Amino acid sequence: MKTIEKDKKYLIQCYTTDDIVFTRGKGMYMYDESGKKYLDFSGQFSACTLGHGNEEMIEALKEQLEKLVSVTSCFATEERAALAEKMIEISPEGLDKVMFGCTGSDANEFALKTAKYYRGGGRVISFRRGFHGSTAGAAAATGKSEMIQENSGISELLPRGFVHSAPPYCYHCDFGKEPGTCGLQCLKYLEQTMLHEGGDRIAAVISEPIFAAGGVIVPPKGFWKGVRELCDKYGALLIFDEVVTGIGQTGSMFACQYEGVTPDILVTGKGLTSGYVPGSAVLCRREIGEAMSKISLHGHTHSCYPLTCRSALKNLEIIEREHLVDNSRETGDYLHEKLLVLKEKYDVIKDVRGRGLLQGIEIEGSPNADKYVLGQEFYETMLENGLITELESRKNLENVVVVMHPALITSRENVDEAVEIIDKSLKTCLK
Ligand SMILES: Cc1ncc(COP(=O)(O)O)c(C=O)c1O
Repeated sequence: MKTIEKDKKYLIQCYTTDDIVFTRGKGMYMYDESGKKYLDFSGQFSACTLGHGNEEMIEALKEQLEKLVSVTSCFATEERAALAEKMIEISPEGLDKVMFGCTGSDANEFALKTAKYYRGGGRVISFRRGFHGSTAGAAAATGKSEMIQENSGISELLPRGFVHSAPPYCYHCDFGKEPGTCGLQCLKYLEQTMLHEGGDRIAAVISEPIFAAGGVIVPPKGFWKGVRELCDKYGALLIFDEVVTGIGQTGSMFACQYEGVTPDILVTGKGLTSGYVPGSAVLCRREIGEAMSKISLHGHTHSCYPLTCRSALKNLEIIEREHLVDNSRETGDYLHEKLLVLKEKYDVIKDVRGRGLLQGIEIEGSPNADKYVLGQEFYETMLENGLITELESRKNLENVVVVMHPALITSRENVDEAVEIIDKSLKTCLK
């Protein structure tokens, strides 16, 4: 039986969208069964920071596999202590304690648990169009009405007490305002929501600094400073979910450093280990971490495994040595400029947004093409032409955005190749 047939026969196809079987990867490229080459501008959900098949990483992991792999969180290891120290070193000042996890979702669960425990309960405010994961608390905070929220049976699993505020999405402003003259209505609405939902009894506000899966939504200048002030005013903890934006993806180690806003809790995952081994981390202020040290309500068997810690340490070592965060910023700017040129060329490209190597293209329809059909065709044609991106397109959210978050090793030549494929694919779709 062919791999794809076997896969379809036995595997629950929750996420599968394409009939491609990948067999290997090297650097920025992935190869399918037939040997066809694809330029990976998805970074596999933004996890593959160093690109595929990084030999230095593989050597470090081999060495660690031989040394020690399985150690539960009951015990300390050299790797765990070293990674904890490193995480505090690279994170914004004021975040002095860290906890490790396996995925972005479970790290967000810990962040939410921490906020509830530290604040003695209270509502959690998040934003429509934000994404935080597929476990219960993370899914409840998600504002994209994912399957779990839409299905009345499964949605019983979602905890209560999660409230969604208006997103800072200038292109689709919920208040019909224009950037620059809007008076930050979304911030005013957030304060009303906070007051309405408990005022100084709110546990936390959780958000991605740039909403990735929601369609690369970059909040307007001053928004996060305003949110920080509101959290301070009402005593709510500010949680930044940097599972996508962190570890250099947006051109600074963490997106909040660019904003100059420090959260009380910062969550990271995906690119932390460059995706070679699953891993995530939650950083927080010292007193919050010390409060959590007193409880035994959280832990995963694999969460502090030396192999995970070693992959994160090696990843961070390479990122720093090769100045990959700078590369993300510079090459990301180059990508942004080239996408803006395409925006001038095609009427259906209405907005180009992003920071560093997290960029998105917002598509509208044309008289001959429904935007959802066009978005799907565009995505599939790019794939056919050898470019992997992500398509965020849901009718209930009314947006169609091609999302790109390639590895931090992306070069200008890779950008030129990607943009050529984007151009060629869109031309084909509009014929
Ligand atoms: C912003 C954000 N947070 C959390 C998650 C969940 O991470 P994971 O899939 O590792 O559970 C994701 C996944 O896409 C994400 O985009």
